[in-house]
Amino acid sequence: MRKKEPSIIYGVLGYPAKHSLSPRMHNAAFEYLKIRASYKIFEIPPSELKLFMSSLGRRGIKGFNVTIPYKQTVVSFMKKITPEALMIGAVNTVEVTKTGLKGYNTDGEGFISHLKEDLGFDPKGRKIAVLGAGGASRAVCVYLAKCAPARIAVFNRDRSKTISLMHALNVHGSCSELTAADSIKELKIGDADLLVNTTSVGMNPGDPSPVPQELLHKDLLVYDIVYSKHQTKLLSESREKGCRVSNGLGMLLYQGMLSFGIWTGRKAPKKVMNDALGGI
Ligand code: ATR
Repeated sequence: MRKKEPSIIYGVLGYPAKHSLSPRMHNAAFEYLKIRASYKIFEIPPSELKLFMSSLGRRGIKGFNVTIPYKQTVVSFMKKITPEALMIGAVNTVEVTKTGLKGYNTDGEGFISHLKEDLGFDPKGRKIAVLGAGGASRAVCVYLAKCAPARIAVFNRDRSKTISLMHALNVHGSCSELTAADSIKELKIGDADLLVNTTSVGMNPGDPSPVPQELLHKDLLVYDIVYSKHQTKLLSESREKGCRVSNGLGMLLYQGMLSFGIWTGRKAPKKVMNDALGGI
């Protein structure tokens, strides 16, 4: 009888990480494709991060996702990094290879895939307003800018981050007009086609909407990358205004499918993973 292959370990590194939905979708995909692997949660405090990173081989870990607050921190541990992840300055997917760690960022591509494939929105020639300029915003904006939109305007509390993001988009993107907005009003939501909230405002049930409702209009697609059981105030107020809306579950699904493909070399079973998330 042939010896059974040892089970391979994947997972998500974060702190906190225990509420992650990623184990559900990846474990469902492994089971469906009969891959002997399991996806775990690695909730590692900052004081133990170095130790964790040095114990990957011993633990049988072949790949992992990275979430808050480590997406930027892990970059320094990578032996190789994709040009996109380097441009974004953050890694959300790590492949453990014989020669060291390779870092990817599947967040931006996941966002664009969901936008185009499921929501039928092509950013080419469209006007886009983005709230926030942190790691998630950089991933989203770098990929949006590649699609030749007519305008990307970004507003963030900390303006230095907006400027740094604009610089990256200017160098690498193909966007006709870039605006580092000084206020939400300067985002020009009035004639925008797409509004993306990448800030963490909305994560907690009592959070206000980051956008005054009077700025929203029915021709706007409002995408809030926050995913949680409750509907964010931004999305409920957008619905009231007749906007099309999306939460971040689709982005989670697509970035997970891309990570799955990187690790296993197999086509991710979209329906199985989507069902495991409860359906986007
Ligand atoms: P992520 O990787 O999820 O993007 P991040 O890099 O820490 O996480 O970015 C968080 C984003 O949410 C930032 O744009 C942050 O704004 P600042 O750069 O000004 O801190 C934004 N953010 C967080 N809390 C906020 C709040 N209460 N109001 C407005 N923006 C907020």
